[in-house]
Amino acid sequence: MHFGVILVCLLITVVAQPTMAAKFTWREWWKNTIVYQIYPRSFQDSDGDGVGDLKGITSRLKYFNQIGVDTIWLSPVYTSPMADFGYDVADFKDIDPIFGTIADFDDLIDTAHNLGLKLMMDFVPNHSSEEHEWFLQSKENNDTNNPYRDYYVWKDPKIGCNDPPEKCVPNNWVSVFGGSVWEWEPKRKQFYLHQFLKEQPDLNYNNPEVHREMKEVIKFWFEKGVDGLRVDAIRHMYEDQDMEDEPINPEYTPVPGERPQYDSLIHTKTADLPELHDVIKDWRGIFEDFSSEPNYRFMVTESYDTHRALLPYYGTPNQPEADYPFNFGLTELTNESLSGKEIHNKVQDWMKDLPGGKWPNWVIGNHDTARITERLGIKYARAMNILNLLLPGTPTTYYGEEIAMEGIWVPYNETQDPYAINNPNHWEEYTRDPERSPMQWDDTPHAGFSTTNGKTWLPVNDNYLTGVNVADQITNQKSSLALFKTLANLRKTESSFQTNHLKYAIVNEQIFSFFRLSGDSTLLSFLVIVNTGDSPSTDDYQTALMNDDFVVPGFGVVEVSSGMDRNGDSVELNKISVASGEALVVKVQVSFGNKASVTMPCIIVIAIMAMMGVILQDFFPLQI
Ligand code: GLC
Ligand code: MG
Repeated sequence: MHFGVILVCLLITVVAQPTMAAKFTWREWWKNTIVYQIYPRSFQDSDGDGVGDLKGITSRLKYFNQIGVDTIWLSPVYTSPMADFGYDVADFKDIDPIFGTIADFDDLIDTAHNLGLKLMMDFVPNHSSEEHEWFLQSKENNDTNNPYRDYYVWKDPKIGCNDPPEKCVPNNWVSVFGGSVWEWEPKRKQFYLHQFLKEQPDLNYNNPEVHREMKEVIKFWFEKGVDGLRVDAIRHMYEDQDMEDEPINPEYTPVPGERPQYDSLIHTKTADLPELHDVIKDWRGIFEDFSSEPNYRFMVTESYDTHRALLPYYGTPNQPEADYPFNFGLTELTNESLSGKEIHNKVQDWMKDLPGGKWPNWVIGNHDTARITERLGIKYARAMNILNLLLPGTPTTYYGEEIAMEGIWVPYNETQDPYAINNPNHWEEYTRDPERSPMQWDDTPHAGFSTTNGKTWLPVNDNYLTGVNVADQITNQKSSLALFKTLANLRKTESSFQTNHLKYAIVNEQIFSFFRLSGDSTLLSFLVIVNTGDSPSTDDYQTALMNDDFVVPGFGVVEVSSGMDRNGDSVELNKISVASGEALVVKVQVSFGNKASVTMPCIIVIAIMAMMGVILQDFFPLQI
């Protein structure tokens, strides 16, 4: 009977505990990090040619230690004619001279590792450059003795078509960058498929040789010590073999006379085909082969898709795939749609359908999407960093977000991005130049990015002269960078930010707020609030948070505010006021609630029983 009492007491005590702190294992280092995306052309130029390079990146690595970032991801630095600025790879196992040499890469990775940083590379499996040796060979002829004959997706002109063969495309498929996916090759008298630019022919994953070659590429970079890969454009790897047309998207209104645009079709034949999951599982095997304590190799996949289409890229417990697919939900917020509810929808989309045991992730910007300062306005730059870094899971931050860099304006005739150049009717909508402008380090010429006497490859935003640069912000306690550092530190030191726990507090048109319960027995927790409205909002968070498990006190302390101007202030939780565009992180010391009130008497009962000597007898009955 005594034993029963103890058991019940222990059970209640355990149930009353909050989620325990995540102790990350060596296989989980990526859960406890911020991933910082470097666009190598734009980060730091070391040789004065106006384009960033590897030596430049190496020279800046200590910056990451300073700001609390432990993982960097490099967009492609492989040999490339730069039709798509490196996403057109001409040699998967070499570095483009514009970025440096393999020796420079070795130096970069050694320096990074010595500084305790992880390094991820971009891996571009869907296509190569048209200048890749495989393609140069493949396009020569269709002879069975050409070993590269089937490395790409080749098709004959459509049967029954009366036009000249080069006009007889096999079907209506459209490339992501606009126009047909089919390009005529006179030497073979066939079309090859490209889901992106015609300079980016798609590799043929129905050919086992292509699988073998690409696995060699993964091994090559793992042998060099790379800690993880971001897998590019994964949904485009396979196309349906039946070659039938894709259905027309009824919601798309074509511009008369314009070549077909990607959104004009529904991509049932060219995206998210099930067989690509077998490839990812296969690659996961290589990642495992190269994972041994303390080096786990981390995989992120990239596709622009609905969250439902993305979640399967996590795989299953028995057959894991990516550690996570990028979650681009927050990059879809626009100034028009922004509201507390809309942020909630985006967060909830991912959280509610997240497969069991999987880890969330967030992205607010990248080299394909207008900067957050453009989409939502400079006003939200800081609040969005707070969300990105304090929602449960791993954040990816795009270079410059930490100093609230803004986009640049580039006229059409100086535009670099092929996506815009190829689609003149949509160029302003499509151009990715604005978010690719050089990193702003200080207030010297070209913002310290380059020593060139000429132009940098894209213009530097002039606002580097007015405080939007690292040097100015690093010494300013109230800067965006100071905020970023504080948030990075909170993620590292507070167990609340190391678990999957998320409880929404107040969510309405104006406010999005959530609570991160402490992951350890201290119960020191955090309330995060963002006001997306045009006016201040004062709300009762104490009532919103109150529940059976814990008691919410009357007061909390602002751990950090987006303006860095309320830090340390005491606030009454039943009437916290948040300004328009402001975000607050409030430290809240909760205590045990109802279940806990059962725990305490239990402890007292056990203590009394112990004093009476009954407990020991329960467990170790005396043998007389
Ligand atoms: C990915 C990249 C994008 C590139 C495309 C083709 O979406 O992020 O920049 O243009 O793949 O490789
Ligand atoms: Mg350079």
